[in-house]
Amino acid sequence: MKIVHVASELFPYVKTGGLADAVGALCGALADNGHEVAVFLPGYRAVLEHKDAAGAERRLRLKVDMANDFLSGDVRVFSPRKNLRVFLICREEFFDRRAPYGTGDRDYEDNADRFIFFCKAVVEMLRLGDLQADVVHCHDWQAALLPILLRETERRHSVTLALKTIFTIHNIAYQGVFPAKAFARTNLPDELFHMDGLEYYSQINLMKGGILFADRVTTVSPRYAQEIQTPEFGCGLDGVVQTRADDIVGLLNGVDNSVWNPALDALLPARYSASNLAGKAGCRAELLKRCGFAPDCKGPVFGVVARLAEQKGIDFILANRDFFFEHDCRLVVLGSGNRRMEEDLREIVRMAPQRVYLSAQLDEAMSHLIEAGGDFFIMPSVFEPCGLNQMYSQVYGTLPIVSRVGGLADTVIDADESPLLGTGLMCDPSTASLRDALQRALTLYADKPRYAAVQQRAMARDFSWQVAAAGYESLYQDSL
Ligand code: ADP
Ligand code: GLC
Repeated sequence: MKIVHVASELFPYVKTGGLADAVGALCGALADNGHEVAVFLPGYRAVLEHKDAAGAERRLRLKVDMANDFLSGDVRVFSPRKNLRVFLICREEFFDRRAPYGTGDRDYEDNADRFIFFCKAVVEMLRLGDLQADVVHCHDWQAALLPILLRETERRHSVTLALKTIFTIHNIAYQGVFPAKAFARTNLPDELFHMDGLEYYSQINLMKGGILFADRVTTVSPRYAQEIQTPEFGCGLDGVVQTRADDIVGLLNGVDNSVWNPALDALLPARYSASNLAGKAGCRAELLKRCGFAPDCKGPVFGVVARLAEQKGIDFILANRDFFFEHDCRLVVLGSGNRRMEEDLREIVRMAPQRVYLSAQLDEAMSHLIEAGGDFFIMPSVFEPCGLNQMYSQVYGTLPIVSRVGGLADTVIDADESPLLGTGLMCDPSTASLRDALQRALTLYADKPRYAAVQQRAMARDFSWQVAAAGYESLYQDSL
């Protein structure tokens, strides 16, 4: 099949979270399976500076009509592997910036224009660039305008640009809601600014458009597919999702085992596998050193790698600060984002620098070291569409402690509830329930044979992307 993906992040070129990993791995798996895959990505500074993009070829010069304001852009293309081409939509004014969406806690003020331009430029490229897509697969709000834009453009020009469109919700909490005046920039007919269209409480909601107008809608775990149809998790779009209940499917993300594999991981000081864990001890020693902790500490190391956002349940960890002071254990956090959470974490580090460590940066190598060198990984999310780190943790033999929501509930089995099957520990998204799980973690860690058995089961789990890719392939085929 000829498959076009449209996304705002792609590993290894630009990443703020799991979206990049998921799109990168899915496109790689589809290309390996022999499909012709094209990915459209904004030409951010970070991407253009990447060595793979150095020789990118200029393919097309575009003029995008945004309410009679004609904005120019370039399309550049490079091919990082067989069957895979990356098309960059370039316009310096919009994308030559340090971060994709904003700085610190603040989004860029022109995000509506930036991503409407991005979607319109993709449509222009499909129209003029001879790509003939079987399927156009759009990810999250940044690409959510495409299904309706494509159909409107096809109607206006009497052409077929894509046989089917797919929209994947990676996180319904981020919807791309902007003031109504942004609607004009789309050049879509006024009747689409309506409660059965893109209008949402007098504003424009891009994700709503993706959900309503794509031929098929998917999300990243079966449980989340159910959850987003309820007011508790739907973030105001549960009613809209319900209208697509028959067309929505939850396909679990996987682990890209060319990137996340303790036996091959070049970012680690030592490599290891389930049958030989010596290297894991080496990673632990390196992690302790990196954090400035005593080299001989006996208690477990709890790791956290996360965007500092309400979603990730960081406040439950903060509220349990005394746990880490009272017991022989360590807490290592890699995360940035919300300023207040960052400050609160720094405060805990000041109180007990020999127990708690924070790195408030984006640091790919450190994220691997925490996954490898930790004994437990904490992820008490309030909601979690899929979550990748709890899967990485299991593959790395670092037992995840997760709340029972979304993809976390779909990928972890509690070792106390299921002694023969358990691969981690589960709690509710609350301070008290997390505390109980942390206590149970100490008990489990003290029982070496039991800890080792749970670890072996975790490491034996197969989260490979082939399963997920096969799910998407049959979805594409079925829709066609
Ligand atoms: P989300 O997409 O909601 O942030 P996921 O669990 O799906 O959550 O994916 C998060 C991804 O981002 C993982 O690959 C994780 O390792 C990575 N990540 C998060 N914070 C950092 C950080 N500060 N440095 C490096 N990687 C990070
Ligand atoms: C989103 C979600 C996360 C998911 C990722 C990739 O960022 O928050 O749970 O794993 O997308 O699909």
